[in-house]
Amino acid sequence: MAPRRFGDAVVYQVYPRSFQDSDGDGVGDLGGILARLDHLTWLGVDALWLSPIHPSPNADWGYDIADYDGIAADLGTFEDFDRLVEGCRARGLRLLLDLVPSHTSIAHPWFREHPERYCWHDGPAPPNNWRATFGGPAWSRDPVNGRWYLHSYYPEQPDLDWSRPDVVDAMQAVIRRWRERGADGFRIDACTRIAKDPERRDDPPRTTPSPFNWHPEYGALEHVHSKDGPGIGAALAAVRDAAGDAPLVAEATLPNEQLGRYLEHVDACFAFELQAAAWTAPALNHALGRALALEDGLAWVLGNHDVPRLASRVGPERAAAAAVLLLTLPGPVFVYQGDELGLADGPAPAQPLDRAGRDGARTGIPWQAGAAHAGFTTGEPWLPVAEPPTWAGGTAAEQRSDATSHAALHRDLIALRRELSGPATAVGLGPDTVAFARGDTVVAIRPDGGPVAAPEGELLLRTARGDGIVVRRA
Ligand code: NOJ
Repeated sequence: MAPRRFGDAVVYQVYPRSFQDSDGDGVGDLGGILARLDHLTWLGVDALWLSPIHPSPNADWGYDIADYDGIAADLGTFEDFDRLVEGCRARGLRLLLDLVPSHTSIAHPWFREHPERYCWHDGPAPPNNWRATFGGPAWSRDPVNGRWYLHSYYPEQPDLDWSRPDVVDAMQAVIRRWRERGADGFRIDACTRIAKDPERRDDPPRTTPSPFNWHPEYGALEHVHSKDGPGIGAALAAVRDAAGDAPLVAEATLPNEQLGRYLEHVDACFAFELQAAAWTAPALNHALGRALALEDGLAWVLGNHDVPRLASRVGPERAAAAAVLLLTLPGPVFVYQGDELGLADGPAPAQPLDRAGRDGARTGIPWQAGAAHAGFTTGEPWLPVAEPPTWAGGTAAEQRSDATSHAALHRDLIALRRELSGPATAVGLGPDTVAFARGDTVVAIRPDGGPVAAPEGELLLRTARGDGIVVRRA
C-alpha cells in the first residue's frame, strides 16, 4: 500500500478556461490563475489542480489532447507556466496537473504517425457492444483506413493501447517532463479506461443499479469488460514509477470495493459514490457509511467540471451544510472553483459548446461587482458569465469582505479542519441527520435544511440556518 501523500490537504480545482482571463481574449489563462492566487491563499487551501492546459481541438474542452508537452496558446506560454510554478512555490501551494493517459485527441500526431499505439479492430462490424460514456458506440470507423478504433468517450478521443511498451514509455516521459517543469502531482483522468478486457468481450446488460449517474445508454450495461481490465495494476505502476513520490489522485468511477487495485499505486481515489448520492440523509448516510468502511484512500469531492454545480444540485440554501460535510472529513478534499462562492450553474449558451451538457458548470468566476463580465474578462467570454441570482451570495471580492459569506464559511472550515484529527466514525443523531465524530469533535448536517439537534458541548461552527454544526463534546 502506498503512503497517502495528500494527508488532509484541501485542493482547489481550477478549470483554467473559466477562472480568470488576463489578456482579454475571453478565455481564462495561466496569467489569470497567477493573478488570483491570493484568493486561494485567503481561503487557506494547500494545493490547486488545473484541468488540462495542453493544446487541444476542444472536442472535450481540453480532455482531447493534441500535444502532451505543449501549452494551449489561449491558456498561455511556458514562461507563464514557470511564473505560475514560482507563484505557487512562493505561497506554499502545491500545483497538480491533469494527466490524461487513456486517450488522446484524434488530432494528436500519433494517431496518424503511430496508429499502432491505439486500439483497433478489423472487420465489417465492431467487435463488441461497448458504449461510449456520453452515449453512442465506443467504436468508430476511421474514414482514412476503414478500420474500427476504440473511444471510451467522444469519437474525437481515440483510446491508447496501454499493453504496448512504447505507449507506456511515451506517457512516462510526459510525466517526467512535467515533474521537471514544476508539477508537484497529478490527477489521473479516466483512470479505469487505461485497461480493458484483452479478449474484448461484450459488456453484459446491467442487472444491479449503479451508484453513479451514467448516461442512460452507457449505464444500461455492466462495465465489466470495457474498463478496469487486468492491465490496470501494471499501467498504474508505470505511472507511479515516472511520478516518483508525487501525490496522485485517480478519477476511477467505480464502486468503493473495486478501488483497491488503484490504491496500491495512487494516493487517493475520488469518492464518487458520495458525490453521486442523492441529497437526502438516508442516501448520504448510506454512501458515507460505505466510504468510511474503507480504511483510507478516498478524496472527498462534491463538485467538479463534469456535474451540475453543487449549489444547483442541492439548492443554494443548502450549500452551506454541504460545505460543512465536505470540509470536515478526514483525508484530502477537493473544492471546485466557484463552489466556495455558492455559485450556481450558469445559463446554457444558445449554442451549447459541450455536447454532454456540462457548460453550465463551467461559466466564468464572478470576481468583482460592477466590472464587465463580473471581472472574469474584459473581452467576450467563451461561455457567458452568469448574472445574479446565480451568485446571490455576491462576487469573490464582496464575499471576502463579509465574515458571514459562503466564502468566509469555507475559509473558517478550512482553518477549523486543521484542528481535526483521526478517522471519522458515524454518530446516530436521528434519521434526518448525517453525523460523524472525529475524536471529541462531532460534525452534523441536515440535508433537508432543518436545524440540527446539536449535542452538548462547545459550538465551534454553525451555518446561518443551523443545518450544519461542528461541536466539541463536553
Ligand atoms: C473525465 C473528465 O473529468 C471529463 O471532463 C472528460 O470528459 C472525460 N474524463 C474524458 O477525458
